[in-house]
Amino acid sequence: MTTVLVIGATGKTGRAVTRALASQEVDVRAAVRSTEAGKRAYAAGARSISVVDLESGVGLDEALAGVDAVYHLAPNVHPDEVGIAERVAAAAERAGLSRFVFHSVLHPDEASMPHHLRKAEAEKVIRDHLPGVTVLRPAAYHQNLVDAAASGQLTVPYSLDAPFTNVDLADVAQVAVTVLTRIGHEGLTYDLAGPEVLSVRDLARVATDVLGRPVQAIRVDVAEWVAGPGATLSAQARDDLLAMFASYDRGGLVGDPSTLRRLLGHEPGTWAQVLAHP
Ligand SMILES: NC(=O)c1ccc[n+]([C@@H]2O[C@H](COP(=O)([O-])OP(=O)(O)OC[C@H]3O[C@@H](n4cnc5c(N)ncnc54)[C@H](OP(=O)(O)O)[C@@H]3O)[C@@H](O)[C@H]2O)c1
Repeated sequence: MTTVLVIGATGKTGRAVTRALASQEVDVRAAVRSTEAGKRAYAAGARSISVVDLESGVGLDEALAGVDAVYHLAPNVHPDEVGIAERVAAAAERAGLSRFVFHSVLHPDEASMPHHLRKAEAEKVIRDHLPGVTVLRPAAYHQNLVDAAASGQLTVPYSLDAPFTNVDLADVAQVAVTVLTRIGHEGLTYDLAGPEVLSVRDLARVATDVLGRPVQAIRVDVAEWVAGPGATLSAQARDDLLAMFASYDRGGLVGDPSTLRRLLGHEPGTWAQVLAHP
């Protein structure tokens, strides 16, 4: 049986990837921050956990012992994403692992967003250690907005008319399983964008139809966001997200869905389908 070490297995992405791997009888070892956090990884289907400190690298060698592949994702807007990538990739190289998948982001070279540039740099440092790395570059997930849609308000601090090709996280997880368990994806980089170009105004309109009750699209001023949700973040994370909102204002985040369609072998999930079956 194939064993995959999933880094960040307790978060939104990591749990989706863990669930998808477990459903294919893949043995998932979850790299977690604490045994307490590990309970969420077990709930998603992990068979074992390894406590790892990504900021120092302590625990990585033990976590990698005996695994066949690694799925690496970085903590959201982490200031040391590149250092984490370096430590994880170097440990994987020491362990002699050739199958390594890095969860990057759509358009990592977009210079207006520092956290995207850190992903581009992380891709490079991983490739230096492991030239066969497979890189997935997903668009923003539909799942980010499902709870907000259910509450009746999609509230964002950027243009309601900016275009996005959001992607179903379940599709991203299915691709993760494919590239982790089948050959032929070594050294390749895949954009994973959804099949529809929709603005937040469009997302609210579709949600109103699917949910059968009004869902409003609301734009808040960035100052209001800074005083509200942004107030709980570190200054660096807040600045990263402010840069992202400004970039979204200018052009949204749009990618080509053809690679995802080809890798899935079927049509990618739409916003309406995700809302109907969250
Ligand atoms: N959300 C999107 O739409 C989207 C789209 C494309 C790419 N991405 C990328 O996907 C990655 C994961 O995003 P997500 O939305 O799944 O994030 P998330 O739900 O916040 O999960 C982050 C994971 O990182 C762990 N973590 C956080 N800080 C850590 C630290 N200091 N040391 C070790 N582990 C730490 C968390 O562990 P705990 O559970 O213990 O906190 C959790 O497992 C990010 O790199 C993001 O840029 C996201």
